[in-house]
Amino acid sequence: MLITPDTELRRAVADDARALAEAVVRNREFMAPWEPYRAEEYYTEREQAARIAEPGGAMWLLFDRSSVGRVVGRVALNGIHLGPLCSANLGYWVDAEYRGRGLVPAAVEEVCRAARDELGLHRVEAGTLVDNVASQRVLAKCGFVRYGLAPKYLHINGEWRDHVLFQRLLHDEPPAYARP
Ligand SMILES: CC(C)(COP(=O)(O)OP(=O)(O)OC[C@H]1O[C@@H](n2cnc3c(N)ncnc32)[C@H](O)[C@@H]1OP(=O)(O)O)[C@@H](O)C(=O)NCCC(=O)NCCS
Repeated sequence: MLITPDTELRRAVADDARALAEAVVRNREFMAPWEPYRAEEYYTEREQAARIAEPGGAMWLLFDRSSVGRVVGRVALNGIHLGPLCSANLGYWVDAEYRGRGLVPAAVEEVCRAARDELGLHRVEAGTLVDNVASQRVLAKCGFVRYGLAPKYLHINGEWRDHVLFQRLLHDEPPAYARP
């Protein structure tokens, strides 16, 4: 789907692995402060293909339509749990050159819609570094609510770092298995 006249969002497929690998290589330095340690393998087409196919996750990619095949961002749901939890963990980034255009909030809105309507989730959660104001702005724009602070929550860029935790509730219906 188009999220701006120039930007398309769609579920990632195996054939996107090369363009995705090119995007992570292009943004390697930009992303470093916000990311866990990445082995060299992470920057290869093979590893990105494995991540696209990873069970328990769902990935969407942003494409610049004026630059054919260029991946300019990624939004992913990881750790998808159904049962009585019906929840997943949200992650995202946009190419450094494409920041500040509202692309990630628009993509997150669409991913939350798919999480509810296609994946049957009740809740999406996200954690940001305490000083990641840009990411906190994205979550605020998308109706996420801060619900806690987790000390030393994730190992990011070489250190255990505190994270602010956010969630968005998507609906109030019972899980599919519990409906009459
Ligand atoms: C956080 C991030 C996803 C925001 O995506 P985006 O599409 O730029 O989102 P927006 O356009 O809504 O901008 C969000 C905020 O970023 C900041 N911002 C805007 N333009 C910016 C720029 N050129 N450079 C740096 N920050 C900028 C502003 O604080 C903005 O909030 P505002 O709209 O209230 O002014 C993006 O900056 C990014 O990929 N960062 C690195 C990876 C990351 O932090 N991922 C999340 C980990 S929890």
